[in-house]
Amino acid sequence: MRKQTIRDIDLHGKRVFLRVDYNVQFVNGRILDDHRLRESIPTIWALQGAGARTVICSHRGRPGGEVVEELRNAPVAAHLSSLMEQEIRSVTECIGPEAKAAVDALEPGEIVLLENVRFHPEEEANDPEFARALAELADVYVSDAFGTAHRAHASVVGVPQHLPGVAGLLMEREVDYLSRVIDDPQRPLGLVLGGAKVTEKLAILDHLCDQADVICVGGGIANTFLMAQGIDVGASLAEPDRIEDAFNVMRKAAQRPDLKLVLPRDVVISDAAGETVDAVSVNLIPPDFRILDVGPDTIDDFRAALAPMRTIAWNGPMGLFEREPFDRGSLEVARLLADLDDATTVVGGGETAAAVARAGVTDRISHCSTGGGASLQLLEGRSLPGLEALIDAK
Ligand code: 3PG
Repeated sequence: MRKQTIRDIDLHGKRVFLRVDYNVQFVNGRILDDHRLRESIPTIWALQGAGARTVICSHRGRPGGEVVEELRNAPVAAHLSSLMEQEIRSVTECIGPEAKAAVDALEPGEIVLLENVRFHPEEEANDPEFARALAELADVYVSDAFGTAHRAHASVVGVPQHLPGVAGLLMEREVDYLSRVIDDPQRPLGLVLGGAKVTEKLAILDHLCDQADVICVGGGIANTFLMAQGIDVGASLAEPDRIEDAFNVMRKAAQRPDLKLVLPRDVVISDAAGETVDAVSVNLIPPDFRILDVGPDTIDDFRAALAPMRTIAWNGPMGLFEREPFDRGSLEVARLLADLDDATTVVGGGETAAAVARAGVTDRISHCSTGGGASLQLLEGRSLPGLEALIDAK
């Protein structure tokens, strides 16, 4: 898994194609969360310091291979400029004469941000000609796009077929933290899983059921586990066709007496109108109510189970995190992880990292990953195409 990094190659005067993941949202001209931009800055500084000419490439959103005005990269360049206190220019193309002229004009240490690479359908199709056209802009490929490393797209896997490809500092840190969780965790190892769908978490449950010492389950996925226990979850989001899978996970956990599987014993529920909100035992959910968060007793159970852990990975919110007061469970989990000073805590997923940020404890978590799907894929024990494409460490 170890790859060469920007420390391993000479970058002076080189044109560097830096693939980042600036897939960020703006509302009324304001960026919602700039974690991904901030995390990429140490690599940009390192490239500048080495005298490289840096050509930054990113996608934003899912424009479907067309130009979508609100998904242009110019506002990202403006925000990056303010974070870095220097002008970061942007161009309205990512290949062709305009992009080439902007790159040719770069002096050592200067930076340009290309247009949203997904405005071209060839990006997601990993079209070889498109990858070649991108590669022509540079001499070296550097990837800090951990959040996109699970996508085999042209700017992720195609360009490094033409250029020597190494990892940036963010990619290196992401992989170091996440692979340590699966390959060599300090024990005991705890896993906190939430999010909407069991389907998306079955692979990680399957993979880590053999390795984890504690697994705490909340969020929509817990509802299917409750159903597998014969509990009536009312009108809650659940996946009846996954009950069998949830049952299998519980059976596997029961066969390993040293593994503790902690499911909710109380939940926060609401009626369809969202007017009545109550915390009740999982056995007392009225038929027309929905589970929207884990309850306070469950949080106490999670706290007690996780306290002895030396490594904890968390992926997926505990409830309907975007709506108060159903964010409470997620905020409490963020705080309880932050309080575990002796544990290495790794948080993955956009909403999960957002919960940590909203709880104000980002700097007390060992590592908040910039990747949702990518971190999940690594924790499932699967490789990432965007990482595979880079040169192996010597
Ligand atoms: C993300 O935000 O998870 C990454 O940028 C990947 O985006 P995608 O799911 O649209 O490929």
